[in-house]
Amino acid sequence: MVFRVGVIGTGNIGTDHANRIASQVSGADVVAVFDVATERAKEVASGVGAVAHATDGDVINDPEVDAVLIASPGELHAEQVLACIDAGKPVLCEKPLAPTTAECLKVIEAEVAAGRQLVQLGFMRRYDAAYVEVKAALDSGDIGEALMLHCLHRNPTAPDWFTSDLALTDSVVHEVDTSRWLLGDEIATVTVLAGKPSPKAGSAQDPQLVVFEMASGVLVTVESFIHAQYGYDVRCELVGSEGVASMDTPTLGAVTRRGGRTTVVPPDWRVRFGSAYQAELQAWVDSLASGEFHGASAWDGYAATAVAEAGLRARAEGARVAVELVDRPSFYAGK
Ligand SMILES: NC(=O)c1ccc[n+]([C@@H]2O[C@H](COP(=O)([O-])OP(=O)(O)OC[C@H]3O[C@@H](n4cnc5c(N)ncnc54)[C@H](O)[C@@H]3O)[C@@H](O)[C@H]2O)c1
Repeated sequence: MVFRVGVIGTGNIGTDHANRIASQVSGADVVAVFDVATERAKEVASGVGAVAHATDGDVINDPEVDAVLIASPGELHAEQVLACIDAGKPVLCEKPLAPTTAECLKVIEAEVAAGRQLVQLGFMRRYDAAYVEVKAALDSGDIGEALMLHCLHRNPTAPDWFTSDLALTDSVVHEVDTSRWLLGDEIATVTVLAGKPSPKAGSAQDPQLVVFEMASGVLVTVESFIHAQYGYDVRCELVGSEGVASMDTPTLGAVTRRGGRTTVVPPDWRVRFGSAYQAELQAWVDSLASGEFHGASAWDGYAATAVAEAGLRARAEGARVAVELVDRPSFYAGK
């Protein structure tokens, strides 16, 4: 069966996802798109052989659409995901599930009431080969028990509107999911330290050091550096009681000449995580057939937003802030 996908939001990542589904993913076609930027939507639609609809509801309720991919701005996600649940259609929603935990909980309530999993979140690190290898080293017992996780999240640069708060809610939120997924544990507290700012950072407090204490006591450090200048460098090192699992600075190959060797650092997230997005989309399409979703769930989306909210408070108050989660519904056991 070939699943017919509707895409809502054809900006940076929505366009990439639509093109990938159309050309690199088996078992799915893009049949409908919507974006308030109508010309852009039409352009993307014609590139993938889809129709451009007049509203997001038209995509979600189109009988020709089997499943929906949401890549609109985060503040619209909850409402659009709720409409997908209402229509009984599986949805892959880019992060965040919603900017507030209150909205995330509405999605959880609706999905539980629907009685089957429909929502997957776009935390694509779970499909990145290097992160998967680190997790496998822990799960196999090869490095003993997890003790500490060190994460680096360096972007070359960011526009002025990308504030220090957004660095937490938009970038570090990936490390929130990475930590929870790799360690199989919830984040109990968040602390945010902003020390000497980079002269390249404008008005942003950058870099920032974020510390998570997991419920088990494992410590996680996250260096968030959004004006690192030299490239996009995202990786981690997991320190275990009997060894260490890590990944090298991701490179795009090397040039050796005149007695030296130069390696090329990815310029941005598109290049660094291209194959992870591809694997994520293929896994999601495969899940449409099996009905079993293995990516991040709505619960993971809720937990990520809860940690981001605690992070904002930790920054504002200069305090170590506890993350308060509601009881996990049994519906999400193993999801
Ligand atoms: N997983 C990742 O690594 C990753 C990477 C980039 C972006 N994202 C997430 O994807 C989402 C989109 O990010 P982006 O970088 O593509 O942003 P973008 O601004 O490039 O694209 C957003 C698009 O949504 C459109 N839009 C606005 N209102 C809309 C509406 N009511 N209905 C439908 N579309 C509407 C805009 O016109 C724009 O084209 C964000 O939530 C972002 O956090 C995730």
